[in-house]
Amino acid sequence: MSEMTPEYRRTLTQMMESQAYRELAAAQMFGYGLQFIPELKWLKFLTWHIREEMEHYEAVAKMYREFTGESVEGVVNARLKEKPVPFAQSWFELAMAQFLYDRGGFWQLKEYENCSYEPYRGVIQKIIREEAGHQGLGQEIVIDLCKSGKFEEVKQPLFEKWLRLGLLSFGRPNSEGNRYAIAQGLKKRDSGAVMQDFVNDIKPAVRDGGLQFPKPETLGMELPRDLDWALRKAES
Ligand SMILES: [Fe+2]
Ligand SMILES: [Fe+2]
Repeated sequence: MSEMTPEYRRTLTQMMESQAYRELAAAQMFGYGLQFIPELKWLKFLTWHIREEMEHYEAVAKMYREFTGESVEGVVNARLKEKPVPFAQSWFELAMAQFLYDRGGFWQLKEYENCSYEPYRGVIQKIIREEAGHQGLGQEIVIDLCKSGKFEEVKQPLFEKWLRLGLLSFGRPNSEGNRYAIAQGLKKRDSGAVMQDFVNDIKPAVRDGGLQFPKPETLGMELPRDLDWALRKAES
């Protein structure tokens, strides 16, 4: 640990802070959403999911304390105050959030699974295994509700809102910070490459739900210019 440069230490600290923020933000967002859940079976799923997000937060907080000697809670609470994740305001929107926000987090974590800082690797691998179990249900609910025809007015705008929030999980593509983290083996690839994996992963559900990717410039964020948004028929 003594050979860590201040920059490496700083980057790793920031990675842990962002991770802790995302985990607690997910727990809070899904917790707020409980009031919109119409059926016991989904209540069971969501309460289990919230508990796992809280445990991910706890695991990152523990690692952070071991690494920095301090609590991450002050940083995370301040960031949540300053940058709250919007809360879903209906069952349909909650499903959209579960699908896109959680899925974005999953793909982001995959980039850290071979992290050059060993303790991070261990924590991340446990979280990834659990996140894999969250997948699919939000997507299934979104597709079913979209197909019901009852959400025609709201489905596309809410999709665009949460698509953007999902994409924001990856950070700005092509940044100096990205290059440094990759060179140091802290993460695998540039954010742009991860965005493409995420976009490809959600394409079948986008098509099945009768949704469309918006024009990238309407998302109001930095995206790689060559991102492939095409919904091909063969991918199902
Ligand atoms: Fe999580
Ligand atoms: Fe999750």
